[in-house]
This record gives sequence, structure tokens and C-alpha cells, in this order.
Amino acid sequence: MTYPRPFIAGNWKMHGTMAEAVALSLALKTQWDSASAVELAVLPPFVYLPCVKEVLMGSHIQLGAQTVSTEPKGAFTGQISASMLSDLGCQYVLVGHSERRTLLQESNETVALQFSAACQLGIKPILCVGESLSERQAGNTLKVIAEQLAPILALKDNLPGFLSCIIAYEPIWAIGTGEVASKAQIEEVHAFIRQEIGDKSVRILYGGSVKADNAAELFGLQNVDGALVGGASLIADQFIAIALEALQRV
Ligand code: PGA
Repeated sequence: MTYPRPFIAGNWKMHGTMAEAVALSLALKTQWDSASAVELAVLPPFVYLPCVKEVLMGSHIQLGAQTVSTEPKGAFTGQISASMLSDLGCQYVLVGHSERRTLLQESNETVALQFSAACQLGIKPILCVGESLSERQAGNTLKVIAEQLAPILALKDNLPGFLSCIIAYEPIWAIGTGEVASKAQIEEVHAFIRQEIGDKSVRILYGGSVKADNAAELFGLQNVDGALVGGASLIADQFIAIALEALQRV
């Protein structure tokens, strides 16, 4: 894992209070006090973005959001546009997380529109892809990933900033379960994504039960350029320990 620059993102999901978001940000800022060869970002709930931004000011930890509207503005109650995220100082946004694909029926096409909306405002999308357990058991993993990538790849030549996107492979059955995909499974899918995207500079993260004690092994794998961390990103020591494992590999 020497090129491109490793990236570790913490997906806070719908956890915590404002006081906890501030305390977690402060702990991260204190423990990650220098610009380093590893890039770190946190993705708090929308409502905590302003207070987290304030705490992280002057640090080297970047800010991102967990989703974005496909629309630039208008009568879309409850939605948040890419320009609003840009106003809040977000450099990154997750699109296509499996929880949103499953619970909110976000389609591959919707996710591509979100991806495009983010890029157009200079926000780097972190595109999540991954198969369910039944899709893996049926031998359809790469087919599912190819389908998830197809509408995104169609944007490649005409979307400014496309190559600064990040792809996160998150097998659904590994999210929040404590079960990590095997080395062979991860390397197979990451190599496939690398080949589909056709560019070495796009970072490919692994996500799904990443913890401080399995990070070193993950970061030793081919085409693994960092991690998308859920549960362990809510504990400052854990998240920093994961980032330090990535730093050791640089
Ligand atoms: P987890 O979540 O690390 O808790 O498995 C990962 C994610 O959903 O992004």
C-alpha cells in the first residue's frame, strides 16, 4: 500500500449526541496532530457537520457527509444538496452505502446521479459497492459489482473530478457483523474494481468490520488503499489505531 495515498474514513452513521460528536472530534484532533502520508476523514450525521467542522478546524482531518441529493435545489423536503455540503466544508460524501440501497431503495442510477452531483460541486464521492450474502453464495459477486459500477463508469469521460473519487468495497454480510471478508475475496474484488475503473490513482477502500486488530492484515493486501470504518470509527483510540496501521504501510 504505497500508492496512492492511503485514505481512512469514519462513517458515524446515525450515532451519538452533539456533545459526543464534539468530544470524539476533539479526541481525534488531539491524537492525529500532524499532516501525514495517510489521509483521514470523518463522516458525521448532517446535523453535526457544523460543530465537528469547528472542532476540526486547523487539524488535518477532513470532513464528509453520508449522502447527498441528486438535485441541486428545490422542493425536496428533507434532502441536502451538494452545494449545501460544500457550504459546510465537506470534501467528501458517501454515495450508495448498502444501508441506503437496501432500506431506501436507492438504485444504481440514483447513486450515479448523486455521484455526479457531488463531483460537479468539487466534492469527492466515496462510492460504496458490495454484494449480499445470497449474491455471493450464488456466485454473482463480480456481476453485482459490475452492475453497481456501470452507471458510474459511464460518467468517467465527461465528469470533471471523476478520478478523485474513491470506491469502497463493502460486502454487506461483513458490515457490522464482525465477519471480515477473506484475503482472497478482498483481493479478487479489488483487482476487479481496479480493472474496471482502469486507473491507478483512484483509491479503493475495504469496509466491513474493520478494527484496529485486523487493519494491518487488510492494508497488506493488493489494491487495498485504505478503509471505510463504521463501528470502530466511533472510538477515537480504535480509529486512530487503524490510521496508524495504514501509516506503517506507507
Ligand atoms: P462496520 O461498518 O465497520 O461497522 O462494519 C462499515 C460501514 O458500514 O461503512
